[in-house]
Amino acid sequence: MADIEQLNGDAQSRIGAAEDLAALEALRVEFLGKQGSVSALLKTLGKMTPEERQEQGPKIHALREGVQAALTARKEALENAALESQLAAETLDLSLPAPGMPQGSIHPVSQVMDELAEIFADLGFAVATGPEIEDDWYNFTALNMPESHPARAMHDTFYFPDQAPKGGKMLLRTHTSPVQVRTMLEDGAPLRIIAPGRVYRSDSDATHTPMFHQIEGLVIDKGIHLGHLKWTLETFLKAFFEREDIVLRLRPSYFPFTEPSVEVDVGFAIENGQDGKGRRVLGGSGDEPGHGWMELLGSGMVNSRVIEMSGLDPDQCQGFAFGVGVDRLAMLKYGMDDLRAFFDGDVRWLRHYGFSAFDQPTLSAGVGARA
Ligand code: PHE
Repeated sequence: MADIEQLNGDAQSRIGAAEDLAALEALRVEFLGKQGSVSALLKTLGKMTPEERQEQGPKIHALREGVQAALTARKEALENAALESQLAAETLDLSLPAPGMPQGSIHPVSQVMDELAEIFADLGFAVATGPEIEDDWYNFTALNMPESHPARAMHDTFYFPDQAPKGGKMLLRTHTSPVQVRTMLEDGAPLRIIAPGRVYRSDSDATHTPMFHQIEGLVIDKGIHLGHLKWTLETFLKAFFEREDIVLRLRPSYFPFTEPSVEVDVGFAIENGQDGKGRRVLGGSGDEPGHGWMELLGSGMVNSRVIEMSGLDPDQCQGFAFGVGVDRLAMLKYGMDDLRAFFDGDVRWLRHYGFSAFDQPTLSAGVGARA
């Protein structure tokens, strides 16, 4: 009897003082293991007389249960303490980049798209979108290019085998101009929109990729004329290149969907010799030595036939439209010379030409990123 009480006192105090889980496990083995002292007591029950057993049995079982309870309680306490100290020691900042991973950056195309959206939002333009898988009618016919029109051949179109609802085949849009038609049909006049997006042509070299990006601009209202177009383009390009001395050259051109049509070149300085690489827009006209002209965008007054096919009355409203290559703008502003690298997904290129996600283009701080 004295044995049991002593054993209990000893077990309780040592379990309560166990410093870690390993020490606790050693105590469990010492008391409750096969060779443990409590187990040894339990084994003595078999050799007792029934009277003894009736008296000792409950005490020995109570001892075992008490020891078991003490072990469980201490284990829980030790585990809680371990968790608390781990929580105190380990702080995890989920906003940090994962260790060992390359850090992400904003692709120059996204950067330039953001810059353009910012500039045109300031001029009151909304953003419109259209599908990349397009109906022949929106991409060509409604833009004054009926099936036999020779201008279609210049677009190197990717066609799908599927029949388009409005005739011809479905295709990957070759320009953002079908968004003009879609927006006029949907929203009517007046309109002031830009339509950024991917376009596709079967073409590939240093300055052409089968997929590239355009931004379409469209203004439809009463009394819109070529002067509005010229002012808008000048204002946009000065804001984009962040300099006042931009020199533009407007050349008469031809697009089936604009009349008259105007092609716009921007003067650039040849920085690295005469090979045209490392081009940067630096002001000055292309006619001076060390300068050249770079074709930048197509534009013009929206052809009255397009306005008509888009459900509007050309006697009531006029408009201008333009289409710019976004990738080309990025190359000119940030000095890349091979368009194909834009879409290689090479992290070294992205790290070099990418932009910080914290560097949002705003008109007040300047739309140009600190590259
Ligand atoms: N859609 C023409 C192109 O790809 C550009 C353009 C847009 C020209 C709008 C005039 C008006 O090349």
